[in-house]
Amino acid sequence: MKQRYTMLWIIPAMSMACFLVWDILPFPVAAAEPSIAANKDNDNGALFAAFVSVLRNPRCMNCHSTGDFPRQGDDGHRHTMNVRRGPSGFGVTAEKCNTCHQDHNLAGPHLPPGAPGWRLPPPSMPMIWQGLTDAQICVSIKDPKQNRGRNLDQLVEHLTEDKLLLWAWNPGEGRTPIPMPHDEFSAKVKAWQAAGAPCPAM
Ligand code: HEC
Ligand code: HEC
Repeated sequence: MKQRYTMLWIIPAMSMACFLVWDILPFPVAAAEPSIAANKDNDNGALFAAFVSVLRNPRCMNCHSTGDFPRQGDDGHRHTMNVRRGPSGFGVTAEKCNTCHQDHNLAGPHLPPGAPGWRLPPPSMPMIWQGLTDAQICVSIKDPKQNRGRNLDQLVEHLTEDKLLLWAWNPGEGRTPIPMPHDEFSAKVKAWQAAGAPCPAM
């Protein structure tokens, strides 16, 4: 019996010894083995780069560009009829987005496309990606101060399920949909999320 208790002391004693040896080792042992955190940094932004082309597509950029107005077409020209962002993104009093845009596409060329909640982000948080590098877009969409308080799960849900965003795969007559299939886009966004949403180096 007595011997067993003695044995129990050996365990803490040995771990103490390990710590001491660890401390006096002349080289950093931890750095020799790649940690999960290091893998994140080494991703080089490849997981984000795999789907950033979607965010840069004109279907998305027409609502996420510079200027207090939406844009139109594959060339991103300024929205006709002097349509503007307005105080909350829904347009100015005389020209609210929903005066013309319904919750669905109107059939026929050059008729207004539509989806529920058609609008621009508000001027206080305009969510502009035009002119940003991939790294800056990545940081910006993850930043709760720039994405309306979304955490990563909420951001991924928005990216993969929001109706306004899904519209870009079915944008109505005469407009080119996002070329990457939606399933593929969702899978890539989720792979990025699973890896801890690493961004390309700034
Ligand atoms: C007076 C009517 C009208 C108003 C108001 C209006 N739009 Fe439009 N919008 C249109 C029409 C018509 C088109 C389609 C033009 C075409 O296909 O040639 C269009 C196209 C667009 C497109 C282009 C989609 C693409 O990818 O090519 C976006 C984005 C857009 N509108 C956003 C908005 C937003 C946001 C608002 C409110 C701030 C708004 N519009 C207000 C009539 C309007
Ligand atoms: C008709 C305009 C419109 C189109 C088209 C549009 N968005 Fe948005 N987007 C918005 C608005 C408005 C918000 C803000 C919604 C909110 O905060 O709830 C937003 C928010 C976002 C956000 C979260 C905020 C941020 O910057 O992190 C992301 C990500 C996003 N959009 C991605 C896209 C992508 C990707 C596409 C194309 C597949 C797209 N959007 C197409 C209007 C649009």
